[in-house]
Amino acid sequence: MQSLNEKIQKLKKDRHAVIVAHNYQMPEVQDIADYRADSLELSRIAAKTDAKVIVFCGVHFMAETASILSPDKTVIMPDKNAGCPMANMITVEDLRELKSRHPKAAVVGYVNTSAEVKTEVDICCTSTNAAKVVSSLKDAEEIIFIPDKYLADFVSKKTGRMLISWDGYCPTHVKILPEDIIRSVRLHPKAKVIAHPECRPEVIALADEALSTGKTCEYVKKSEAKEFVIATEVGLVYRLQKDNPEKKFYPASELAVCPNMKRTTLEKVLWSLEEMKDEVRVPDEIRKKAKKAIDAMLAIP
Ligand code: 13P
Ligand code: SF4
Repeated sequence: MQSLNEKIQKLKKDRHAVIVAHNYQMPEVQDIADYRADSLELSRIAAKTDAKVIVFCGVHFMAETASILSPDKTVIMPDKNAGCPMANMITVEDLRELKSRHPKAAVVGYVNTSAEVKTEVDICCTSTNAAKVVSSLKDAEEIIFIPDKYLADFVSKKTGRMLISWDGYCPTHVKILPEDIIRSVRLHPKAKVIAHPECRPEVIALADEALSTGKTCEYVKKSEAKEFVIATEVGLVYRLQKDNPEKKFYPASELAVCPNMKRTTLEKVLWSLEEMKDEVRVPDEIRKKAKKAIDAMLAIP
């Protein structure tokens, strides 16, 4: 009898599909994916792939971004209920109202936003390139940065620019507390501490580095250190350990689990390929406007 994995691989070929997974996906999902990456890389992969179908193992805004960039491809999500609570913290009406109070401001939108919100954004960013994106807006008198207040704080400190932020945050990353870092460092005194920029500022202040998931992978590979405390969603630890078996990784908090990222299972991946659903497609009018903001980001090297 064929294993689940074999069935997925066969169907993937038959459908001319590619399976992409975010770094927070469950280990078994990461293992069957063609690409595992952070939000920025997943966008680039979606824009470039020759596959007809993209099976997106991640959360809804990521699949939407793939569909915006590749409207001729069929983008399917194994679980369409995998949303991002942070992305849901701002609506297009909220953003319009904020813009009306700062009519001259340039608007930077984290990719963790809906396609509709992106229609009101000038340029998107991810946690990999947020500081670069803000620094590129040299002529802007004011900058609105939505929706993550902690990423805004991090970028503001890094670039020296005042940012008009929104009261959004990631419910998973706020679970990581300064005392978790203090305890982890006491237990692993030689470890380097890497925090995700979505963490609370007090956590970032205690870390050696604040990096996106993709940049964390790069940093760890190059680093001479042998041990690392990882202050982000626990799924990244699996990838880091697999890619660097000679090094040791400790999650700063076992509570940092994104339930939405964990909705995708191997069974659901198989069913999504069998039934070719659930498709994520962005209406053309929204897609064209949202694409401008994503393209502006992708144009930054
Ligand atoms: P990365 O871009 O670092 O992968 O982060 C995405 C995300 O949703 C973090 O919570
Ligand atoms: Fe959204 Fe946080 Fe989950 Fe990332 S970890 S997808 S920001 S809820």
